[in-house]
Amino acid sequence: MTQAVSEPLATQADIHAHRILILDFGSQYTQLIARRVRECGVYSEIHPWDMNEDALKNFSASGVILSGSPESVNLDEPPTVSPAVFELGVPVLGICYGMQAMAAQLGGKVEPSSHREFGYAEFTPIESELLAGLSDVGASGADAMLKVWMSHGDRVTEVPPGFEITGKSANAPLAAMEDRKRRKFGVQFHPEVTHTLQGQKIIERFVRDFCDSPGDWTAGNIVADAIARVQSEVGTDKVLLGLSGGVDSSVVAALLHEAIGDQLTCVFVDHGLLRHNEGDQVMDTFAEHLGVNVIRVDVADRFFDALKGVSDPEEKRKVIGGQFIDVFEEEAGKLKDIDWLAQGTIYPDVIESAGASTGKAHVIKSHHNVGGLPEHMRMKLVEPLRELFKDEVRKIGMELGLPREMVYRHPFPGPGLGVRVLGEVRRDFVELLQLADEIFIDELRKHDLYDKTSQAFAVFLPVRSVGVMGDGRRYDYVIALRAVETVDFMTARWARLPYEFLELVSLRIINEIDGISRVTYDISGKPPATIEWE
Ligand code: XMP
Repeated sequence: MTQAVSEPLATQADIHAHRILILDFGSQYTQLIARRVRECGVYSEIHPWDMNEDALKNFSASGVILSGSPESVNLDEPPTVSPAVFELGVPVLGICYGMQAMAAQLGGKVEPSSHREFGYAEFTPIESELLAGLSDVGASGADAMLKVWMSHGDRVTEVPPGFEITGKSANAPLAAMEDRKRRKFGVQFHPEVTHTLQGQKIIERFVRDFCDSPGDWTAGNIVADAIARVQSEVGTDKVLLGLSGGVDSSVVAALLHEAIGDQLTCVFVDHGLLRHNEGDQVMDTFAEHLGVNVIRVDVADRFFDALKGVSDPEEKRKVIGGQFIDVFEEEAGKLKDIDWLAQGTIYPDVIESAGASTGKAHVIKSHHNVGGLPEHMRMKLVEPLRELFKDEVRKIGMELGLPREMVYRHPFPGPGLGVRVLGEVRRDFVELLQLADEIFIDELRKHDLYDKTSQAFAVFLPVRSVGVMGDGRRYDYVIALRAVETVDFMTARWARLPYEFLELVSLRIINEIDGISRVTYDISGKPPATIEWE
């Protein structure tokens, strides 16, 4: 337990008191803005650009950031900044479209540019308060130059009354503006992307210096706050959690255990499609080390029976998902007086299910297959990670004392190895795959390559291929290795692993696993291929 955790409730800082409101105009980088603000130790939330006026006022923002957008302010009905934003009396930072919208609405001018500026650009600050002292090349002051990321067609050609021009780039003579008195700032470039080298410092200066935020959004405080909130929400009630061994449910388990101890019961469905020894590791971490109540249900036989003769990938997913719900329900049904169901919903799920610029429906994540619990179970939902990004979930996982290996583990699909044994899922195939996967992951870790890839795994191909081993011939199965680098898992590049490394892994798999005679490496990007083979 950390020191912050044991602090009495009354002395805890209200870490939501200082908060930055990010209004989303549809930029692909909006989530990045929110993450950057939080990396400065300040809580932030994303809301649609047309958030209603009352909600806007009630949010009590310490500052507002207007995101970029694929739209143009010169369209017939461009998304606009609510006038209430400018009446809040707090600092406002407009990024790209956000700056253009602010300029157009406050009396300046925005025009289409003959040169679109996309990608790397050199930006020269001009007596800017926001950018003072920052430079990537040359001294700060008149010689300063920032390396920034631009992505715009329109540009501001006239600043509104009260604003000064505070920066220029080759294609935008007016690439930044400030109204120092009213603390309104605009930058044409994107400080939230890492290609803008001083981007984090710029956001930090805005939220910490101009919005006066204290920076108390830290892992220790987040844990303390989440614990206090769970305690007051569930009181002395009992809570049920479906533990999968994945990062989110593991962190929820550790957090709830810290908050409510024995009131928490976890059900861990071991369906035989996990990584090698993973079931034992989950039990070891949670039941043995942390002392969490975990009911492990070994239902591998049942899953393999249900999967007999099923080879279509979507059908396999349905069978696995359906079985999972059945088992979970059966186990939950045996428990008495459970009022709450805990879920590992995280902030990106909330934003995505709300649809940042559409409605804000609260959609429950069906992930881990517990979202489909039947009506009659009628449990209330507790979702302690609802406002956290994945990197924050990992940080608090470490804070709660979970093993680094578990917290920084690559994502693993819900249907597990069921979609990594191509075609029909047989127990003997799964066992061969588990051994091959373990060798691959083990070597990645030993060679310091695991954290450099976003997701890596072995796939079992149910085709047989000829090989020679000593004096004998073999006619055995094939393993494909897959390793990708990606930020969002929507697109991915195959990882350029060293040939020597691949050779070593291939040799180990063929020599150590009886039943595998050939190893291949997947060099398909996404798109057109997907990350998983099924
Ligand atoms: P694809 O194969 O679609 O994978 O490029 C993108 C990411 O999603 C994971 N994935 C799944 N996760 N249930 C899950 O929980 C699934 O059925 C599933 N299919 C793919 C995949 O591992 C990758 O991280």
